[in-house]
Amino acid sequence: VAVRREDYAAPAWWIDTVDLTFDLDPAKTRVLNRMRMRRNTDVPVQPLRLDGDELNLARVLVNGQGASFRMEGDQLVIDALPDAFELEIFTTCCPAKNTKLMGLFVSEDTFFTQCEAEGFRRITYFLDRPDVMASYQVMLRANRSAYPVLLSNGNLVEQGDLPEGRHYAKWVDPFKKPSYLFALVAGKLVAREQRIKARNGKEHLLQVYVRSGDLDKTEHAMNSLIHSIAWDEARFGLPLDLDRFMIVATSDFNMGAMENKGLNIFNTKYVLANQATATDADYSNIESVVGHEYFHNWSGDRVTCRDWFQLSLKEGLTVFRDQEFSQDLCADASARAVKRIEDVRVLRTSQFPEDAGPMAHPVRPDSYIEISNFYTVTIYEKGAEVVRMMQTLVGRKGFARGITLYFERHDGHAVTCDDFAQAIADANPESELAALLPQFKRWYSQAGTPRVATQGHYDAVARTYTLNFTQSCAPTPGQSIKEPFVIPVTLGLLAQDGQELTLHLAGDEDADAVRSHTLVLTQQHESVTFNGIDSEPVPSILRGFSAPVRLDFEYTDAQLLTLLANDPDPFNRWEAGQRLALRSAISLITSGADVVGTTTLNDAFVDAMRGVLRNPTLDSAFKELVLTLPSETYIAEQLEVVDPQRVHAVREAMRAQLATALFSDWEWAYEQNQDTGAYNPDPLSAGRRALAGLALVNLCLAARASGDSVWPGKTLQRFKDAGNMTDRFNALNALVSSGHALAQQALARFHAIFKNEALVIDKWFSLQAGSPDRGGNVLALVKQLMKHPDFSLKNPNRARSVIFSYCSANPGAFHRADAAGYVWWSDRVIELDAINPQVAARLARALDRWSKLAEPYRSAAREAIARIAARPDLSKDTQEVVTRALAG
Ligand code: ARG
Ligand code: ZN
Repeated sequence: VAVRREDYAAPAWWIDTVDLTFDLDPAKTRVLNRMRMRRNTDVPVQPLRLDGDELNLARVLVNGQGASFRMEGDQLVIDALPDAFELEIFTTCCPAKNTKLMGLFVSEDTFFTQCEAEGFRRITYFLDRPDVMASYQVMLRANRSAYPVLLSNGNLVEQGDLPEGRHYAKWVDPFKKPSYLFALVAGKLVAREQRIKARNGKEHLLQVYVRSGDLDKTEHAMNSLIHSIAWDEARFGLPLDLDRFMIVATSDFNMGAMENKGLNIFNTKYVLANQATATDADYSNIESVVGHEYFHNWSGDRVTCRDWFQLSLKEGLTVFRDQEFSQDLCADASARAVKRIEDVRVLRTSQFPEDAGPMAHPVRPDSYIEISNFYTVTIYEKGAEVVRMMQTLVGRKGFARGITLYFERHDGHAVTCDDFAQAIADANPESELAALLPQFKRWYSQAGTPRVATQGHYDAVARTYTLNFTQSCAPTPGQSIKEPFVIPVTLGLLAQDGQELTLHLAGDEDADAVRSHTLVLTQQHESVTFNGIDSEPVPSILRGFSAPVRLDFEYTDAQLLTLLANDPDPFNRWEAGQRLALRSAISLITSGADVVGTTTLNDAFVDAMRGVLRNPTLDSAFKELVLTLPSETYIAEQLEVVDPQRVHAVREAMRAQLATALFSDWEWAYEQNQDTGAYNPDPLSAGRRALAGLALVNLCLAARASGDSVWPGKTLQRFKDAGNMTDRFNALNALVSSGHALAQQALARFHAIFKNEALVIDKWFSLQAGSPDRGGNVLALVKQLMKHPDFSLKNPNRARSVIFSYCSANPGAFHRADAAGYVWWSDRVIELDAINPQVAARLARALDRWSKLAEPYRSAAREAIARIAARPDLSKDTQEVVTRALAG
């Protein structure tokens, strides 16, 4: 049964206070829930319907008296009730058997909770919806030696001993909250602590809780938290509102992390780091995720969502905030641009396919069967782009004003995406956002990626240059017609010699002369003319990726080479290189020519890549992005019909040519980018390591072609000597991805060194499951990895490290003409679904784009999806995904 946005109705009852008592026991935890409730007099009189899931109900008392109730499915229904009353519910549950990791579960002998979106109902009967906000107090009781640390939201107000070796802790949360923000943790944990003084002089206690062996990996998370607190106050005037702010890490977690009020619970992957075990990418992800969850304290917790259709209200905004945070921590404009390029790359390789496939949905969806399926790149990353466009339309200062108004208006309330957009517009009444608000909000209601087809026309006589834009958007499931979007297009013009031109807009002679202009498209067809242009210019369109659209422009190779060499906008400079590479890839793919060992890239492109690599004014991080070819997924998205083996073969051939043709340049780049001094994960040093890593991959690839063994040998030595995980892993990756025989020895050594570091062992599994399928034997390897004593299907990180790395990140190995990859995938989805539906439903999306595949892949993929769909006992999570896949 689908839940529809248009059916929203306010709750019939309010819950003012919740008093919870837990007697924690892995096999049988007892939960006493006492609530003060009252009727919502704004809605017609209705029975009370409380949500529950897999609970054992022992007792229901209304005002202390046994009450009559009935069960309707999973709901507990009470008919006759006074307007205000106290409700007491006593239930038990079994955390040890909770493999779904929703509600209360046990991970390595410690209790954790995950309540978003609908996990609280697995702890007690409740009005488990985000618009019911209550004050919570929580009593935790457990065996003292097994569970010395007892945590919940808010402030610790009391603790002490109980008979029989037990103890208790009582927590009171000073803020009202929806049930999805409830959390508790109980177990053997230790904390890194830091006291900080806020601007107003108030003291706060910050804690990062981990297992005792991991304390030496918490410094970076703590520093990230301290930076986050300072940033939110400086940029948006939003202070920390709690005496105590806690982060707790668990190795069993479905997602990245969770913003429970004052008690964030994290996947260990986004907390634990030291230089021996974590890569630069891990450090950077930790910074973003710690920031993200901290920023939710305002955008999510203080102001929350009215219903789950508004999920992007908090997620899109909070992703935007964490992206801005990471950019603001960068030392210079180049590092900021690198971060922007990385974010856009995620959007285009994950969200664009989602928006073009069977799971396409608006940023504010209209219906869902299982809300967990809508924690998507559309809600998160596209949602963040929508917020970013608002900032572009009102300016950075105007946006900060809008945020202030939003929190003034809605603090303590559960609101909608409309409320957010309205606040930003109202704080900027003269802005284009205010003028265009109803149309702008189509970004929330219409799914699909708009296409902006652009043509340039130079008039030598009039000395004008005109750009004609046509926007369109393909139909998506349930939405056949799309109305025009508001699309901010930031652009500039370069002369053919690469000089940036000053812009004189026709019809706006008074406008300040600028080099970059943001044109706001609102119509299907629109144009802009620039005056005083002496020769046909090269347009740099959609600078900084100013809108989440596909831009079509028939650039000549020469124009793209001009942009690649000269564009002052680093995003479009990078983009020009990607377009050139994409163009070669697509023409080769469609040519049908034999690509193995042949010349796939023209000299101009190779020379341009050499020029970037050797350019003394560019940072290593930027070079690494330019020298990385577009991914197979991104290439495939540009094609009507996809033969994944052909895409793979062509990209591999291009890679091999770049490796060989630039051999001495790679050698030079490798030597130039050696670490000096102590390890520091800052963007500049990380960029140097990233480029050195890419150089090693290329040197090993080139050695593969030439049969030379010098660089593989050096790479093995580098692997052994490396002083940090980034260099070590990059060396290992170079050996594995070039298929060199030395890889086996290095992999064995890597496992032996890190056998007690779960997150490093995840990397070990993932690298192998993602390795190139040169002899067609990766599937056999993956099957063997699943039999490894370290493998466990129940641990989501481990399951992802093998199964997702093969099915979602290794297209050349997964898409087999004999369909064996697909059949294996369908078995894993079915197997996982019985354990953890959320993780299974994610995996079930690996073949979302099946209808684009060429035969025999297409039919085989469809058959594998149908095989899953035919199972009678599927979770509604997986059911929804496969049903939509087959219908799309
Ligand atoms: N709100 C969390 C975050 O983005 C994600 C929680 C997702 N949980 C889930 N069951 N889908 O930080
Ligand atoms: Zn979030």
